[in-house]
Amino acid sequence: EETGKSGYDHFMLKEIHEQPRSLRQCLRERVSELAGSVSLDVDVDPDGVQFVACGTSYHAALCGVHLFQQAGIPAQAFLASEYATSPPPVDGDLVVGVTQSGETADTLSALREAKRRGAETLAVTNVVGSSVSRECDQTLYIRAGPEIGVAATKTFSSQVVALALLVLSLTGASRHDIAALRDLPGNVQQVLDESDAEEIARAYEGSDAYFFIGRGLQFPVSLEGALKFKEISYEHAEGFAAGELKHGPLALVTENTPVFALVTGDGEQARKTIGNVKEVEARGAPVVAVTDGKSDVHRYADHVLDIPASDQRTAAILANVQLQLVSYHAAALLGRSIDKPRNLAKSVTVE
Ligand code: G6P
Repeated sequence: EETGKSGYDHFMLKEIHEQPRSLRQCLRERVSELAGSVSLDVDVDPDGVQFVACGTSYHAALCGVHLFQQAGIPAQAFLASEYATSPPPVDGDLVVGVTQSGETADTLSALREAKRRGAETLAVTNVVGSSVSRECDQTLYIRAGPEIGVAATKTFSSQVVALALLVLSLTGASRHDIAALRDLPGNVQQVLDESDAEEIARAYEGSDAYFFIGRGLQFPVSLEGALKFKEISYEHAEGFAAGELKHGPLALVTENTPVFALVTGDGEQARKTIGNVKEVEARGAPVVAVTDGKSDVHRYADHVLDIPASDQRTAAILANVQLQLVSYHAAALLGRSIDKPRNLAKSVTVE
């Protein structure tokens, strides 16, 4: 196993660093800069989309909801384990199972329920020949390459990009969309090369809890940042929609609970999240801004994790890479079993 790590201390760190390559693989031969188009080996034309997924894949599905809705296609995401408790009507909807392994029992079971109700199904998975790809009508492969670390990293970014490609293949891609995808692997590389995540993990070691806030696409990234943090560091971490803070979670905020605020762009969403940053600051909480520098959030932050300026959609992936690194370093400082966290399994084949 040691040789497989290519000099990295853990598979997780290796896989975080593989993202420029895994993303290029996901894009290869699907995006034509010359023709200005996106084409996939998938033949669908849905009225609406329902995602079913678990864990990190559910967070990718929540990103998918934003991408589809922004493109004018109605979309919803369901935790696969909850889907069958009150399944929505599937009239003309495509039901999309997002699952890295393709073997997660909860996701397979939700897809079977959707099929029973007559839905067309699409698998978005990393594993060729997996159960999900055999059971669904069609499959979109994310092509991330094998992921050994139990905590999903490179597969999340490839899932989000695969869903972005699916949207663009349905609605058509602008020159701007194509350029954003083309620049993404290089921008991820820049984050990997220049990240201050280790210093920040060190600065906040021993805190009572770690909170992550964001709006829009950065909300699922906040959930994912917190999930990664708790999975591998065993510390208490939660992600919140920035606007929901004042409706409850603010009661948890103290000078010993760092808040990671994801703020990209300089529009209305950024302005509102900066308002939320001021609210936590007033309670003495340290603030780490993950930002593309387009707004003035750095003025209110104790630390900044920079990401390159890019399209809002790809910015979500870049912010997530910074959070992957923060979690990794926090867990490494605590000496945790990063590639095989206690109580967790890479693929959960029981409901
Ligand atoms: C397990 C893993 C998680 C993963 C989830 C869904 O719980 O520990 O990291 O996100 O399963 O896995 P899937 O293979 O369906 O994406």
